[in-house]
Order: sequence, then structure tokens, then C-alpha cells
Amino acid sequence: MKEEVKVLKGDICYSDKDRKLITVADGYLVYQGNQILGVYEALPIEYQGVPISDYTNKLIIPGLTDLHVHAPQYGFRGLQMDLELLEWLNTTTFVEEAKYQDLEYAKKAYTQFVNDLQKGGTTRACIFGTIHSEATKMLMELLDESGLVAYVGKVNMTRNSPDNLRETAEQSLRDTKQWVQEVGDKYTHVKPILTPRFIPSCDEETLHGLKAIQEEYKLPVQSHLSENRDEIRWVKELVPASTCYGDAYARTGLFGDEVPTIMAHCVYSTEEEIEMMKDRGVYVAHCPQSNTNLSSGIAPARLYLDKELKIGLGTDVAGGANLSIFRAMTDGIQVSKLYKVYVQPDQKPLTMEEAFYLGTYGGGSFFGKVGSFLPGFEMDALVLDESDIPHPQELTVKERLERFLYLSGDPGVKHKYVAGKQIR
Ligand code: GUN
Ligand code: FE
Repeated sequence: MKEEVKVLKGDICYSDKDRKLITVADGYLVYQGNQILGVYEALPIEYQGVPISDYTNKLIIPGLTDLHVHAPQYGFRGLQMDLELLEWLNTTTFVEEAKYQDLEYAKKAYTQFVNDLQKGGTTRACIFGTIHSEATKMLMELLDESGLVAYVGKVNMTRNSPDNLRETAEQSLRDTKQWVQEVGDKYTHVKPILTPRFIPSCDEETLHGLKAIQEEYKLPVQSHLSENRDEIRWVKELVPASTCYGDAYARTGLFGDEVPTIMAHCVYSTEEEIEMMKDRGVYVAHCPQSNTNLSSGIAPARLYLDKELKIGLGTDVAGGANLSIFRAMTDGIQVSKLYKVYVQPDQKPLTMEEAFYLGTYGGGSFFGKVGSFLPGFEMDALVLDESDIPHPQELTVKERLERFLYLSGDPGVKHKYVAGKQIR
């Protein structure tokens, strides 16, 4: 039986594939089940009489995708922000993540994370768990109940990690395979993703073994790439034959090519690495707030757009202190301006339209036809209210959206639709 056609009415904003912002004031978003049928200035005759949710004077935009976030780090966001990456991992992150061996702790912390993610603008996310299979399954269970759509990874860590957060390669691969078998088809909205933490944490045996699991179960992959200068030097020491950090992954078969892959950061990617990402369809998860907090640097997101790499936004909580992709959009714009002033004067900064595209269409595309209101896209939508923030002048729909990104953010999200279902 065909699902019922429904309509949302309001001030509609979305991006097209060329990153252009389309706005329709007082328009109609028509969908059927999980499929967008179209956006109209006037309701077409054939849809007269279908149920309308009336959000007049509210903004309606596609759902947001967080391409890179660490669920077990949610509890310590906003702490220890004076450290750089490697020291921060060793003194803070690994100490906290080791606690997820304890399922009671995991349940408390993951419930807080999922509740807050559910309240904000994010409809889809690619999420790191910890090395612990049981806690990771619990996180997947909570996410599935929330109605959000997510890829979740049990993390692999087999070297350069503390005793209480390190596996042998054999155990890591055995646990990963068993976890994949248990969760592969278990949930409606949540799927597994292979998650080697980064090259310094994973020996060669682990990476080759993960490639075999990847091929057997056809899984996507997420990891970190070229985030921090000390990290990059360390990777070169660990894999001396590699021509760049990306090549250290590519040697094990875990760098795109047929395999949907997300690499977080790419702050210092060389020309060779950028070409490899482009050729192999590797996604960049641009995490501007994390790169600022951990003094990592500024990723040239604008350059990646110009080169037509696949790219979206990530919060990288707790490297980023904030779970909001609206905030990631404005952080991305702001650091791109500093990049122009201090690094590359001929590089244009990101525009508001481009940042909006990255947080919706750009990241959403990792999930398929997601992140826009073009016909055939999946039905993820947010209803936004910024009427509590006063202004004396008339504003266009585009101006209201820009203001929302900077001034309202997640608290302004009033209703949320994910994969055709209203979850708020
Ligand atoms: N590289 C390896 N692990 C991590 C992590 O947890 N956060 C960030 N930002 N970078 C990493
Ligand atoms: Fe990260």
C-alpha cells in the first residue's frame, strides 16, 4: 500500500547540488512516506485535501548531518581544552573512554548523549563508540529508539594506547567480527561502520584484518587523517614507506575506492593526499571547532569544495565542545576567513550558502539522497523558530536563516522529521 501524501507549510530553504540556496517563502513541502515529492509556491491541484502541518512564519530546512562525533566524549566536552591532540588523547580522552568497560557508566553517559542529539538539529550522524562491544551495542540501541539515523563504530585500538584501552590484534578483529554479525541487520536506523581509531592506534595486522571484514560484510569505514603536525610526523615514523598519511591507510585497502569512507579533519593534506581522496571518493569531515580547540590548524574546506571533494561537517565532540551542526557551519565560515587573512590571501572564505550546503547536502550525501528537498530525496526536515530574537527591520527568508545559524542554533529547533517520521 502506498503511504499517504503529506505537506509541511512554511518558509522553506534548501540547497541544490551546485550549493545554491533555494528559498520559498510561505511554500509547501510535499512528501510521501520517506520521499520528497517537491517544493511549491502554491499547492498543486492534485494535492488539494492532503493533510497539512501548518508552520507558517517558521523556517523549514533539511535535517543536518554530523559526519564525525565521538559519543563517549560527550561527558567531558568543554574540559581540558588547553591541550593539543596527542597530549589531550593520552591524559584525558583515553582515561575517559576506558570507563565504558562499565556498562552502567556507559548507559548513563550514552543516554545523555542521545537525548541531547535528539533535541538538536542533527538527523543523521557517523559516530565513534569505544573499543567495548557491549557499550557500543547499547549506544546503537539507544540511537535506534531515538529515531535518528546513524552509523556507529566499535573502535579498534591495538598499539600506543594504555593497557586498559588496548586490544591485541587478534582480539580486536574477533570482537569486531562478532559485533558486526550481531548488529548488522538488527536495527532499522542504525548500522555498523568499521572504525580504526587512527594509524598510531592500529597495527598493520589489525588494518589488514579490518579490510577482510570490510570485504566480507560490505561495510563503510571512518577514521582520522592529517589532523595535527606531531601526529603526521609520528605516522611517517610508524609507516616509513608511506608517501603521505592517506597512503598509510591505502596500503591496507582502507582508503575509499568502492568503500564508502570518511576521514575526519584533513587539516594538512598534501596535494598527493587530496588527489587520492578525490580519485577514491573519500569524504572529508570538516571539524572547524575541534581544529581550533586542539590548536590543530585550519582545514582548507574552501579548497576542497573547489576541487569537488566529497565533504561535510563534523562536531568532533569532545575536540569540539558543541554538538550543534549550526555552530559547525558558522565556525567553518569564521576559520575560513582567518585562513584567507593569515594563510592564503587568494582563497575566498566559505559563504553562508556554502556552509549551509556542507551541513545539509554535503554530509547528508554519505547516507544517499539525503540533505535536500529536491524530488526523490529522503524526508529529513527541521522546523525552526527564531521569532524570540527580535529585530526592527523586515528580513528575507535567507536573512532569517543566516541569523538563525548565528543566533539561535539547536535551541531554535521546534520539530524534527527523520526518514519520513516526525520524531519531535
Ligand atoms: N585522533 C585519534 N583519536 C582522536 C579523537 O578521539 N579525537 C580527535 N580529534 N582526533 C583523534
Ligand atoms: Fe575525532
